Amino acid sequence: MVQATTIHRPLVRHESLRPLSRDHYQGLVQSQRLIGAGCGTLADPSTVIQDFLQVWEREISPHFDDEERLLGPLIELPADRLRLYHEHTAIRAMVVSVRADLLRGTCDTELVKGLGRVLHDHIRWEERVLFETLQDSLSPEQLQILARETKAIERARRRVSCGI
Ligand SMILES: [Fe+2]
Ligand SMILES: [Fe+2]
Repeated sequence: MVQATTIHRPLVRHESLRPLSRDHYQGLVQSQRLIGAGCGTLADPSTVIQDFLQVWEREISPHFDDEERLLGPLIELPADRLRLYHEHTAIRAMVVSVRADLLRGTCDTELVKGLGRVLHDHIRWEERVLFETLQDSLSPEQLQILARETKAIERARRRVSCGI
């Protein structure tokens, strides 16, 4: 008798989406640190939050804007498009609250932990569902245009981080 097994296909990212996938690594690192800070397993949550806010301004927030500008119009399923925008909106609102707490010198650990979890789950959904769907459904021409845009974004970000 043949037993049913779950096969986890390794994700092979199309070159047009690779720059956005590379951004996700930093987002996942930050989400894990926020979860740790919210759970009280880190000595100084405010340092974690300050680091996160810097990365947010420099990388994650522009990444959200890029996804909405470049991917939003290409997403066929309304439910997927809505999810992208709703989750970005929810995460932006949580960041505003976390920043306000920091400025007041307070810390809502549940909010910090929640932000980490929502950011983590959002990135995982994009990688496992949204990006997979996009690269399977877009035409070669659309993928080519997208690749030009995402490569330009990545080059610009590198120039900023190198101080050039
Ligand atoms: Fe996103
Ligand atoms: Fe993303």
